[in-house]
Amino acid sequence: MSISIRPFTAADTDAVLALWLDAFPEYGDASRPQRDPRLSIANKLGTQPELFFVAVRDEDDEGSAVVGTVMTGYDGHRGWLYSLAVARDARRLGIGTRLVRHAEHALTARGCPKLNLQVLSSKPDVLAFYDALGYRADAVVSLGKRLTQQEFEPGA
Ligand SMILES: CC(C)(COP(=O)(O)OP(=O)(O)OC[C@H]1O[C@@H](n2cnc3c(N)ncnc32)[C@H](O)[C@@H]1OP(=O)(O)O)[C@@H](O)C(=O)NCCC(=O)NCCS
Repeated sequence: MSISIRPFTAADTDAVLALWLDAFPEYGDASRPQRDPRLSIANKLGTQPELFFVAVRDEDDEGSAVVGTVMTGYDGHRGWLYSLAVARDARRLGIGTRLVRHAEHALTARGCPKLNLQVLSSKPDVLAFYDALGYRADAVVSLGKRLTQQEFEPGA
């Protein structure tokens, strides 16, 4: 199987959405409408779109198929990595490793000194994957806040 990694293009959108819906069941959770994969793609295309990569399997007769994704970004202090996914029928072939290494290389080339990422504690298999790639838990508590325009409107 021939796999290449290249930047995402808009033509990959439907294939990426299908891959994410399978790889991230939380995207199908109606109680969490803030998780909107189409919006995630649109937002990324507006911010460092060159750091959104897809892994593509070349198929002789039928062109090519997207079998993996990774999003990354560098804010000038740290790099972050998101949306790593490999199609079920293409797992344990080293594609996830190649995607992470590709992202690491792209960030290193920008001078990024450290790459952070978050994994749901309910996903021991993903933790095992990152452990195999040399990632270790930092002694931090991960905090987050959802930002809304309304909070900053006059009179709010
Ligand atoms: C995590 C994921 C991207 C790994 O992709 P992959 O292409 O299968 O990974 P690789 O083939 O590069 O695996 C490299 C090594 O990681 C470890 N590893 C990978 N998957 C593992 C699993 N399910 N259980 C335990 N270890 C695992 C192994 O050491 C593996 O080496 P080996 O196959 O020689 O034993 C893939 O399982 C996936 O898409 N999961 C669902 C989406 C998801 O949860 N993404 C993470 C969001 S934070």
